[in-house]
Amino acid sequence: MISHKNPYQPIGAELINIIDESPTIKSFVLKPEKPIIFEAGQFVELTVPGCGEAPFTPSSVPSQKDTMEISIMKAGKVTAQLHEIKKGATLGLRGPLGKGYPIDNFCGKEIYIVGGGVGLAPIRSLFLALVERKKDFVSIVCRYGAKTPEDFIYKKTLFGDWQKIDGVQIKLTVDKANGQWKDNVGVVTTILKPDDVKIANAVAVVCGPPIMMKFATLKLLEFGFKPDQIYLSMEKNMSCGIGLCGHCMLGKYYVCKDGPVFTYSQIKDYPKIWD
Ligand SMILES: Cc1cc2nc3c(=O)[nH]c(=O)nc-3n(C[C@H](O)[C@H](O)[C@H](O)COP(=O)(O)OP(=O)(O)OC[C@H]3O[C@@H](n4cnc5c(N)ncnc54)[C@H](O)[C@@H]3O)c2cc1C
Ligand code: FES
Repeated sequence: MISHKNPYQPIGAELINIIDESPTIKSFVLKPEKPIIFEAGQFVELTVPGCGEAPFTPSSVPSQKDTMEISIMKAGKVTAQLHEIKKGATLGLRGPLGKGYPIDNFCGKEIYIVGGGVGLAPIRSLFLALVERKKDFVSIVCRYGAKTPEDFIYKKTLFGDWQKIDGVQIKLTVDKANGQWKDNVGVVTTILKPDDVKIANAVAVVCGPPIMMKFATLKLLEFGFKPDQIYLSMEKNMSCGIGLCGHCMLGKYYVCKDGPVFTYSQIKDYPKIWD
């Protein structure tokens, strides 16, 4: 039977809360007219009526079904408009799109999460999903960097409750400290150490700006991680989000459909993967 459903048609979502996370990032809490069931690492297209749509990875835990949180950095047209929007507005959502993290494949392993900047948004969704079933994993080890202490997002939980979870180990760093900061200073790769996890039984998850993902991946390879142990979330420029327009091609892959989560072994031989 031919389906006449328009794949570009968003559903309505009420903006029920806005949280200022950092000088450039806000989290938007949305209540879609019907739940969007997603896996950590999948993305949605968020429409600002009259302005346009853009892809974002939910930062909330997938088990939270009635509302969805999305943390958004101001980058250009759509995101600047979003940063001006007020509570109560109706936005559009379509998705979930793409493939998320294969969490079941991580069972029995140490999970080494490396994040930078707004890259903590998809990582938060994954982290919370892993914590919900943490008995399935040996440990969850996180290394996360921000430009300055003000630029950390989810400050309350990142500096508080998450640090106290049994089986979880979090280390933070900033590129540039200020008076209050007494912790690590340096880009996130400076706090990665070869004995952070037992590499033979670990997977690494890297998410952040392309330059950070590149150098973190190179460091992990240097430590002895194999390309198929490293999971990357690739944020290519997208348009349709459903494998039709070709905007997001990476070698033979459509990032929107085959990704955005890939192992490094899947994409390492293609040119310009970090552009
Ligand atoms: C799968 C996926 C998940 C994403 N998740 C998040 C998220 O959770 N939070 C978040 O803040 N951002 C996320 N992004 C990035 C976000 O989609 C872009 O910042 C947004 O599309 C910019 O739209 P704009 O209209 O504000 O900017 P535009 O006016 O379109 O562009 C501003 C600048 O940003 C560049 N740009 C646009 N889109 C991208 C992109 N995808 N990657 C790199 N540069 C881009 C443009 O080339 C231009 O230089 C994600 C992107 C993808 C592909
Ligand atoms: S965004 Fe259109 S094919 Fe991927």
